[in-house]
Amino acid sequence: MSLLTNKVGFVTGSGSGIGRESARVMAREGAAVVVSDINVEGGKETVEMIRGEGGEAFFIAADVSRESEIHGLIEGTLGQYGRLDFAYNNAGIAGPTKGVADYPLDEFDKVVAVNLRGVFLAMQAELAHMLPLGRGAILNTSSTFGLVGYPGCAAYVATKHAVAGLTRAAAIENSAAGIRVNAVCPGAIATPMVDEMADEISPGARQPIFDALGAAAPMGRMGRPQEIGEAAAWLVSDAASFVTGLTMTVDGGWTAQ
Ligand SMILES: NC(=O)c1ccc[n+]([C@@H]2O[C@H](COP(=O)([O-])OP(=O)(O)OC[C@H]3O[C@@H](n4cnc5c(N)ncnc54)[C@H](O)[C@@H]3O)[C@@H](O)[C@H]2O)c1
Repeated sequence: MSLLTNKVGFVTGSGSGIGRESARVMAREGAAVVVSDINVEGGKETVEMIRGEGGEAFFIAADVSRESEIHGLIEGTLGQYGRLDFAYNNAGIAGPTKGVADYPLDEFDKVVAVNLRGVFLAMQAELAHMLPLGRGAILNTSSTFGLVGYPGCAAYVATKHAVAGLTRAAAIENSAAGIRVNAVCPGAIATPMVDEMADEISPGARQPIFDALGAAAPMGRMGRPQEIGEAAAWLVSDAASFVTGLTMTVDGGWTAQ
């Protein structure tokens, strides 16, 4: 028996990076996984990877900032697999590398729409399905930047703090009804998002930036997306049955300093 045998869940933003590797770990742990993303090609690739490893997966395109598409994702999951045991609200964007004083308002709104509104809309729709059943596990991706301040990415830091807050509020509100709500807070993880941020900071100089990010953590390296997936699979599983309202850092010790 694996961690997620007989469970069904979806992972938003699973056409790349942390979402993709989380979906793969969850499928290896026995779950049927709905892969969801705005990037159709990336999402379908993840499904092929999971099927190639003998797992069960299905793709549904959804933009998490659109309420109707979130509802479509939940209905599509129920249509395909007949149940929804867990939901991993992972999709997120970095936004520009600018501080509060210089941050363009339209970019701020875009980051809020995906990182905060997207998680809020998804949680509302997930709770509407899970509350009548009296069971379910919701997981959000916050960040170490959701727990401490960091310069040069104002909207990102603000939205990730908001996700940590939403997680705690929803956990308290819904724990008596049998629903657990947690967040994973990754440190610096090698994904396409970090590649793009490095290119924006200093075009053509990814490696020195990655070296500095790795050196900043006591473990002396960046994390792998699969390492977030392992934590995510555990948090949505029954093995974490007494865990709710947690913001779990998976950061090589960065926030312990
Ligand atoms: N990589 C890191 O170091 C790191 C650290 C802390 C937190 N995070 C968070 O982890 C999550 C995943 O990031 P990643 O590093 O894997 O990035 P990534 O860019 O590799 O993957 C993000 C995925 O989200 C999708 N996406 C973007 N906007 C969307 C929308 N509106 N609706 C649906 N999907 C959308 C993208 O198409 C992409 O496939 C994000 O929430 C990010 O903020 C990442």
